[in-house]
Amino acid sequence: MHYRKLGSSDLVVSEIALGSWLTFGSGIEANAAVACVHRAFDLGINFIDTANVYGRGAAETFLGETLQGIPRSNYILATKLFFPMTETDRGLSKAQIEKQLDASLKRLKTDVIDLYQCHRYDPETPLEETMEALTAAVQSGRVREIGFSEWPVDKIKAALAMSGMKAFVSSQPQYSLLYRQPEAEVIPLCKANGISQIVWSPLAQGILTGKYRAGSQPPSDSRVLSQSMGGFIDKRLLQDRVLNSIQSLVPIAQKLGLTLTQLALAWVLREPSVASAIIGATKPEQVEENAGASGHKLPDEVLMEIDGIMAQAMAA
Ligand SMILES: NC(=O)c1ccc[n+]([C@@H]2O[C@H](COP(=O)([O-])OP(=O)(O)OC[C@H]3O[C@@H](n4cnc5c(N)ncnc54)[C@H](OP(=O)(O)O)[C@@H]3O)[C@@H](O)[C@H]2O)c1
Repeated sequence: MHYRKLGSSDLVVSEIALGSWLTFGSGIEANAAVACVHRAFDLGINFIDTANVYGRGAAETFLGETLQGIPRSNYILATKLFFPMTETDRGLSKAQIEKQLDASLKRLKTDVIDLYQCHRYDPETPLEETMEALTAAVQSGRVREIGFSEWPVDKIKAALAMSGMKAFVSSQPQYSLLYRQPEAEVIPLCKANGISQIVWSPLAQGILTGKYRAGSQPPSDSRVLSQSMGGFIDKRLLQDRVLNSIQSLVPIAQKLGLTLTQLALAWVLREPSVASAIIGATKPEQVEENAGASGHKLPDEVLMEIDGIMAQAMAA
């Protein structure tokens, strides 16, 4: 496993991180989830991403229990807040930051969150209030570093312009061969301001593994067919044209000695400002395959070939 520095912080994270959306504490059996976490540590993954809202606290509770016994200094723990936890608990007000941070610390059975992220921008709270509360959380020692996920560019700029506030070190965007929007504005802005990307759904929820084939039924144990986990998949990405283009990447991966999944993750990691690709996994074998993407540099001519194929895939 290779490691990268997280923005302007002192944190050094594995190029592959283990996420917990839909899976841990809810979508998959506890023994499979425990096996995924243990395999991740065996492979050198030191970065775990969760959120208070995943399973309405269930993912954090699962991780709190599963991480007991692993020395706290061996891993970097990231969580988030914003989405509703009850009918009244939501957003990024000072009161919510204090309340949700406290609840996350309890569920995660720890005294400190290494990276506390705002899961979205909160238009109902003044930005200054949010930044002051995050800064206070860091000063209290309960949070080490702060980040945001999918904030509008003007709000990122406004936060950066505030003086006396703790600086963001990470941005968590969706980013993959099938979703390149962050390249336009978010990545350049963050690059100029010491903020790394930690990327979500780098495999487009499994579509970039190549296991979905045009004209065939999805595998029975896959997210697309899962009642509890399949609801967020963008069905446009399951069109024959997209799936066939993904299959055209297989020989490119094979020539490099990689699987298609590893090629898709190595492609995300080609961008130097990406500190880590946050994968989801339902089986420890997936964690193992995905961890194998770390440390592979894709040659320029391969990147150009991939660009051509994916441009066709995404053509209207
Ligand atoms: N900030 C945000 O708003 C946000 C949003 C979404 C996610 N996230 C974070 O990003 C993490 C990753 O998101 P994601 O789960 O969508 O990521 P992903 O890595 O793109 O997709 C994960 C899913 O793909 C399948 N898969 C993964 N590796 C595979 C392999 N080697 N072979 C075959 N199938 C494989 C598995 O599903 P099946 O086995 O069920 O097919 C797995 O659960 C989340 O856990 C969360 O921490 C953040």
